[in-house]
Amino acid sequence: MSVFRGKKILLGITAGIAAYKTASLVRLFIKLDAEVKVIMTPASKDFITPLTLSTLSKNPVNSAFYAKEDENEMWNNHVELGLWADYMLIAPATANTLSKMANGTCNNLLLATYLSAKCPVYFAPAMDLDMYIHPSTKESLNKLQSFGNIMIPATSGELASGLVGEGRMAEPQDIVTFIEKDILNKLPLRGKKLLLTTGPTYEAIDPVRFIGNHSSGKMGFAIANVAANLGAEVFLICGPSHQQIQHNLVHRIDVVSAEEMYTAAHKYFKDVDIAILAAAVADYRPKNVATSKIKKKDSTLDIALEPTKDILASLGKIKENQFLVGFALETNNELENAKSKLERKNLDAIVLNSLQDKGAGFASNTNKITFIDKTLAEKPFELKSKAAVAVDIINEILNRISL
Ligand code: CTP
Repeated sequence: MSVFRGKKILLGITAGIAAYKTASLVRLFIKLDAEVKVIMTPASKDFITPLTLSTLSKNPVNSAFYAKEDENEMWNNHVELGLWADYMLIAPATANTLSKMANGTCNNLLLATYLSAKCPVYFAPAMDLDMYIHPSTKESLNKLQSFGNIMIPATSGELASGLVGEGRMAEPQDIVTFIEKDILNKLPLRGKKLLLTTGPTYEAIDPVRFIGNHSSGKMGFAIANVAANLGAEVFLICGPSHQQIQHNLVHRIDVVSAEEMYTAAHKYFKDVDIAILAAAVADYRPKNVATSKIKKKDSTLDIALEPTKDILASLGKIKENQFLVGFALETNNELENAKSKLERKNLDAIVLNSLQDKGAGFASNTNKITFIDKTLAEKPFELKSKAAVAVDIINEILNRISL
């Protein structure tokens, strides 16, 4: 999945000949499912038309503080635009604009928006070779990088002047790849491995029947998605579930019984940094599994059950540096039970769900949790979508692990 999917990209275009390439740049971001808005400096409109860019970006293009629409003056709110963006990219960035950015000059909409933006700002310089190596330009480039702005270096080649040298704006595809790599490298879980169990387990009674539960696996899938989006490689051990996930960092390992889940969890545990056990594992299984279908009789049927292995507790026993998180689904004495589970199973944290809370539980799309860590500090959260709960859980873990 592209890191740009659903992201808001604000493209600032300044007056360089490379502006004609921004049509491709907008297309590339749109193809990667980003939302794009374009701001142009007035002079850049000599190089590419706003109509081209508004058509490709599917959004109006702004270039002035005011726009006249049906004779009503409209204020283009630079602060709103700056806050809207997840990423701002200024390409091409001319020597003139770079110098103004470096010095806080604010005489057009693009510069005002740049000063208001709180998101990461990338810039792709484009100018003639002597301008690029001029000490004044170098000073602007250094200053901007010292502000935390990220430079996509110009490349060498034939320039609009006919001279050959450094100063060409990086090609659109290279700009996209550069930003993509930068985003990936800065993800907080980049290089980390995470083991997750989710869903129910089915314990066979005979070839056609089983003991199971209503767990949907939704919570675990939501956590897998959040962790993978933050760069983690996820080993998702999943009991029977209809949930789907498409992410190149998520490896799905389907299992059926508690025993299979136990074996799979132990296979991956030693290599991971974090393990979150969200599965609703059956605590008991039939002692003997009938090899053929049990026939109906008039008398009662007793099935002897034996305990399954406690996967979480077994991982707690062999834990080294892994951050181990369990779930506790409780109906009464919730906090007390969850804390005792945390200590008994040697966990770093436990996520408590209470069945007394409306909207928390197996099949629903919402959940209400309390996060409890090793110090037994409790952090209750509001009722939220499982996707939002997954973000809270991962954030709580991120606050407690050394990256
Ligand atoms: N768990 C596990 N293996 C089991 C049973 C539970 O890994 N055989 C894990 C669950 O994935 C969850 C945690 O243990 O993270 C707590 O599960 P829960 O059923 O609430 O607790 P139990 O230890 O089974 O205790 P009880 O059912 O008595 O509350």
